[in-house]
Amino acid sequence: MTPNALNFSGGPGALPATVLMQAQDAIVALPETGVSVLGMSHRSDWFRAILDEAEQNLRRLLGVAGDYAVTFLQGGSSLQFAMIPMNFAAAPQGPPAYVTSGYWSNRATTEAARVTPRDVLWDGRAGHYRQLPDLYALEVAETAAYLHYVSNETVEGLQFPVCDEPFAVPLIADMSSDFLSKPFDAGLYSMIYAHAQKNLGPAGVTVAVIDRELLERIPDHLPAILDFRTHVAHASNYNTPPVFAIYVLTLITRWLLNDIGGLGAIEQINARKSKHLYDTLDAFGGAVRIHAAPQWRSQMNVSFTFGDVRLDEAFVEHAHELGIVGLDGHRSIGGLRASLYNAVTETAVDTLCNALRQFGAAHL
Ligand SMILES: Cc1ncc(COP(=O)(O)O)c(C=O)c1O
Repeated sequence: MTPNALNFSGGPGALPATVLMQAQDAIVALPETGVSVLGMSHRSDWFRAILDEAEQNLRRLLGVAGDYAVTFLQGGSSLQFAMIPMNFAAAPQGPPAYVTSGYWSNRATTEAARVTPRDVLWDGRAGHYRQLPDLYALEVAETAAYLHYVSNETVEGLQFPVCDEPFAVPLIADMSSDFLSKPFDAGLYSMIYAHAQKNLGPAGVTVAVIDRELLERIPDHLPAILDFRTHVAHASNYNTPPVFAIYVLTLITRWLLNDIGGLGAIEQINARKSKHLYDTLDAFGGAVRIHAAPQWRSQMNVSFTFGDVRLDEAFVEHAHELGIVGLDGHRSIGGLRASLYNAVTETAVDTLCNALRQFGAAHL
């Protein structure tokens, strides 16, 4: 297999081979227009149809109707860390509540503090972000503007279980690294956002699904580009959107719906992949340390270490010789990380597990 088929990068991550082939053709000339996708006007009928299809496909996958707006934004998930408090936490709302469960939610919590007073209801830093809280056991003030959490901590490899009960305050989730990896009840959320470069396509576009009721509390003084209503009113075409990224995102939603068979089907594939990898790592006993406590292990990002930087580096090298790439851990915690996003195949995971077993037999 090629390194492209064996890409375990934390993000931008692997994309399905069939989508890459279509994207390759589209860069030269789109089958529908004969023009390169890189030179297609964002005001063309073709692009309007793509935006519409992307939105409809996401609505089908998530089961959300017109009471939610589906928008395509720029600035990555980091811009959402700022836009969310600017839009939804203005007076008379009480301070929003934040859960700090890892590197990325810490970034969200820190950024919110630049905009508004906010309450940190739980902070896992002292325990090196190996555990998660039970969201339903948190004491959220009735007046909180919203409750924000990160559903999957990409760096540490921690994942919350899906929510199954409504919350008393609007619930907002950064789902950047587990969006569309399994079914969930979108109706429990007031807002969901996810950048594309894990499960949705290339970097450059961020999906935001927002309950229209929440839009009513946006203050009127925000710059237009930072006001969610602008993007909703202009159907995500206010200024030049990332046409290529949105095109590839559309191809990914087609792939999920037509080739994979929807979120229930991808959930089963993802469950098999992560089980195989965790079983392989657990079989090493104490010789391999998985960062997440067992109850909170992520199906998308598996962060682990051989407990010795030389062994970690030797494994990266061994894997590289076999064509496996993208295994370096995040700079904040080091070690190794295998990301098992939707487009990482079961065959690729088999190859990684075999490489781990071979390496373990020779070095442990
Ligand atoms: C869960 C999560 N949130 C936010 C971010 C930041 O995203 P961006 O680089 O699009 O701003 C990342 C980056 O990997 C992430 O994994």
